[in-house]
This record gives sequence, C-alpha cells and structure tokens, in this order.
Amino acid sequence: MAFKFIHLTDTHLAFQGLKLYGLDPRARLDAAVADINKHHSDAAFAVVTGDLTHWGEAEAYANFAEAMAALEIPYVAMVGNHDLRKVCLGALESAPRDANGFVQGTRQTPQGLFVFLDTLDETSHAGEMCAKRLGWLAETLAAAPADMPFVVFMHHPPFPVGVHAMDEIALKQSAEFAEVIAPYRARIRHLFFGHVHRPISGSYGRIPFSTLRGTNHQVWFELDPNADEHLASHEPPAYGVVLVNRETLVVHTHDYLDESRRFPFEAPEGIADRDYALNFSAP
Ligand SMILES: [Fe+2]
Repeated sequence: MAFKFIHLTDTHLAFQGLKLYGLDPRARLDAAVADINKHHSDAAFAVVTGDLTHWGEAEAYANFAEAMAALEIPYVAMVGNHDLRKVCLGALESAPRDANGFVQGTRQTPQGLFVFLDTLDETSHAGEMCAKRLGWLAETLAAAPADMPFVVFMHHPPFPVGVHAMDEIALKQSAEFAEVIAPYRARIRHLFFGHVHRPISGSYGRIPFSTLRGTNHQVWFELDPNADEHLASHEPPAYGVVLVNRETLVVHTHDYLDESRRFPFEAPEGIADRDYALNFSAP
C-alpha cells in the first residue's frame, strides 16, 4: 500500500470571524480538516507549506492551532511571507525548528527523508534562504545515507513559474539553493511549495514539483507581465493527497468544497440506443 500524506497550503488565518477578501479562512480550513478526517484519516500526516496566517498575530496562530487540533492526523506547520517566525514557533509545537531558530526540520518516512525549509524574510514578501539556512540544508542532505531519497517542502518556489507578480516575490537565492541541492538532484523525488495560490506542476532541473491553491483566496492566472492588474480570485480551494511508493509519487488535487453534480457512468440522458461509451461486448 502506498504511503499517503496530505499537502495543504496558504491557509491565511487571522482572528476568528474575519472575512478575508469576502471569504472566511477559518471556516474554509475547518472544511478541509473535516474532509481530510472523513476521507484520509489513513494519511501519515499533513504538511502545511506556509502562510499559516495573514498578519502573523498570536491570535491568528491560536486560531490556526484550534482549527488544526481537530485534524485526526499529525501535521507539520511551515512559515511563509505572511508569517512571523517567533510568534509561529511560540504558538505551534508542530512547527519544526533548527539549532539556529529557523522553522526547518526533517521527518523520516518509509519513502525517504522529508525536508522542511524556512524561506521567510520578515522584511519582504520575497523568499530568503540565508547562509545559515542553506548550511543547514547542505548538512542535512549530506548526513543522510547515500541511498536515501528526499522529498523537499518550502513556501517560496526557487524558480519563476511564469505568473509575473509572484515571480517578483519568489526565492531570492535561487542560484545558491540550486548549488546546494545540485549533488542530490537525482535523489529528490519531489519538491512541494506554496505561495503562488495556483495549481501548478512540472519539473525543475529534473526534480518534479507541484503546488496548490490555498484554502482561502487564490491568485488569478495571468502570464502577461504588462497586465494592468495583479488579481486575486475566488477559484475553489484545494488540498493535495499524495500517494508514494518505491516507483511512483502521485499528487491528487482535491477541490474539497466542490458541489457540482456527481453521476454514474451511464448512457447520456435522452439517448436510448447507445451505451455510455463504446460497447466492447457488442458483436
Ligand atoms: Fe499566501
């Protein structure tokens, strides 16, 4: 059976009751938690790839912790550009921490070492990996046994995704990050990130990657760098369900608030002389 875990991102909680861009981030996180409990309580854990809060107040982390306390599986809380490191670490035991006080850590799994990175720069919305954080990453990767695969998680993408406004605030040290992981590229099975509030997948120097819509608001799909406006949207929220075995790592994106019609595969209504598709049993 595949090893299963959950990817959540950009929950953007504030104080309880706040409507953020016309949406209630706590209610939408509660709905995600309820859906995960109902359908994926067999997952090993969930990873939340940053922007846990919108403004980083202690009250917002308490709101986040209360919502996540209902989750029946453990979770790893990471930081993004809307978080504050000390407030997060003070509020959430599920946030990893390294010897330098950054929200970084690892988790050993049957499918390799999962590595959680802190790309928060508390003076900018762009991402940062300073020398200390890159040093921790280099040591962590070097210390693993030579046949150990890795799965890496970070808030900011370490490369441009083509959504210009988000590329302006991607990881600043993309070259330095690429240099640190260069000897391990073949062993990094997947890179998960948040930040862009969009469903995007592809590869980065042969490392497969994916990201997701957040659980509250989204970033509208705009590739034109000269677009008049950088827009947010009410596209549906999602979480990821990841199935991993030795050969494959499969990411399912689930629009957990979707209420569109569900129906069995039968012949289309009003057509009496056809099966639902090609009928292979026909003579
Ligand atoms: Fe975000």
